[in-house]
Amino acid sequence: MTGTPNPPFPMRLQKFLARAGVASRRGSETLITAGRVCVNGTCVTELGSKVDPKVDEVTVDGAPVSLADEHTYLMLNKPAGYLTTMDDPRGRPCVADLVPTREHPGLFPVGRLDKDTTGLLLFTTDGEVAQALLHPRHHATKTYVALVEGEVTERELDRLRSGITLDDGPCQPARARLVEGAGDPKLERRGKSKRSVVELTIAEGRKHQVKRMLGAIGHPVVRLHRESFGPLVLTGVRSGEWRELSEREVAALRAHLEQEGA
Ligand code: URA
Repeated sequence: MTGTPNPPFPMRLQKFLARAGVASRRGSETLITAGRVCVNGTCVTELGSKVDPKVDEVTVDGAPVSLADEHTYLMLNKPAGYLTTMDDPRGRPCVADLVPTREHPGLFPVGRLDKDTTGLLLFTTDGEVAQALLHPRHHATKTYVALVEGEVTERELDRLRSGITLDDGPCQPARARLVEGAGDPKLERRGKSKRSVVELTIAEGRKHQVKRMLGAIGHPVVRLHRESFGPLVLTGVRSGEWRELSEREVAALRAHLEQEGA
């Protein structure tokens, strides 16, 4: 779901009507001069009139008109090698290079992924939603798939499930699942050590948290990929590409935050 970035408030009435999809700018002017538009119950026929869409009630032929959601929400399938920043003074590749910042000024990433981590990175222009999603109280869970060194056992995963302590304090209990064991020939390096694939779901977002959690049980991460963020799942977007969230996905984000009391 998208929209243009926040318009400057107040805005001209005909611009408001056009933005709301009532008619073209010219068509909106005709509606105004014909006396069919009211602001806060008073008929307005002057074309220079301004409205503040956040406070003024606008009607056309008695029917209320409002702006659609003006914010942009999109998911990027982040490739490895990109920094999660909108501007790198050293000119290194960063995620800003991959998303439509010109069309959507004010777009920024919600949280961060390490340079070598791939997968779902949410972007929005909606500061309120971003802040709420990142707030520890609202538990936006994230699911990662990690390729790790060595043979992971259920007993080791139990340490993550019961809440492992890292050097910056205890972690909340994680959901952990062995996706592919070390017996899988695809994961073995030629004649060298074995590897495993683990799926890990956490609600926190501490620095390098997944790498540190898996490192702490003796399995350094070789590759890390994020598959989901809150109610969003990385689907329909190739590595290095982005897509706008559907209305249903935006509604799911809002429902998640409402459920968590945001
Ligand atoms: N945990 C990590 O260690 N790295 C990431 O990029 C995300 C979560």
